[in-house]
Amino acid sequence: MAQQQTLRLRINGQETPLTLDSRVTLLDALREHTDLTGAKKGCDQGQCGACTVHVNGERVLSCLTLAAQADGAEITTIEGLAAPDGTLHAVQQAFLAHDAFQCGYCTPGQIMSAVACIREGHAGSDDEIREYMSGNLCRCGAYTHIVAAVREAADQLQGAAHESL
Ligand code: FES
Ligand code: FES
Repeated sequence: MAQQQTLRLRINGQETPLTLDSRVTLLDALREHTDLTGAKKGCDQGQCGACTVHVNGERVLSCLTLAAQADGAEITTIEGLAAPDGTLHAVQQAFLAHDAFQCGYCTPGQIMSAVACIREGHAGSDDEIREYMSGNLCRCGAYTHIVAAVREAADQLQGAAHESL
């Protein structure tokens, strides 16, 4: 028998209590039980990366994460990436500048993945970016532009981190 559970998720800095069937994935909790539809469902089987969000700062596939596993955790979705005044994150800005998307369906996952990829220190070269972004599929074939965008954002963010040392 399915059980209802009340979870306390912190989504983009806001306490979000949700009472859900214990089988609900984090992706469906976000998309169907809050108004956050940025994370996309491309496969629901962990193979495409369209559902990538951050849980406690780490990239996860939200289609393979039960909402219950994220109880009490800090979740960041694409909607929470820009600054409160609307200033885009460096990765969002770089995706625009480099035309790193066409249909935009893979883009929230690509961007969340790229932010984590840079934070993990896996954006040192184009080859490394290609490898560590390979969990995010793009049917529009924007890969070359995605690598360029991640490279630029990484240089910018790492440069900024260096200056603040
Ligand atoms: S929808 Fe999660 S990996 Fe495809
Ligand atoms: S921009 Fe269309 S799937 Fe990537």
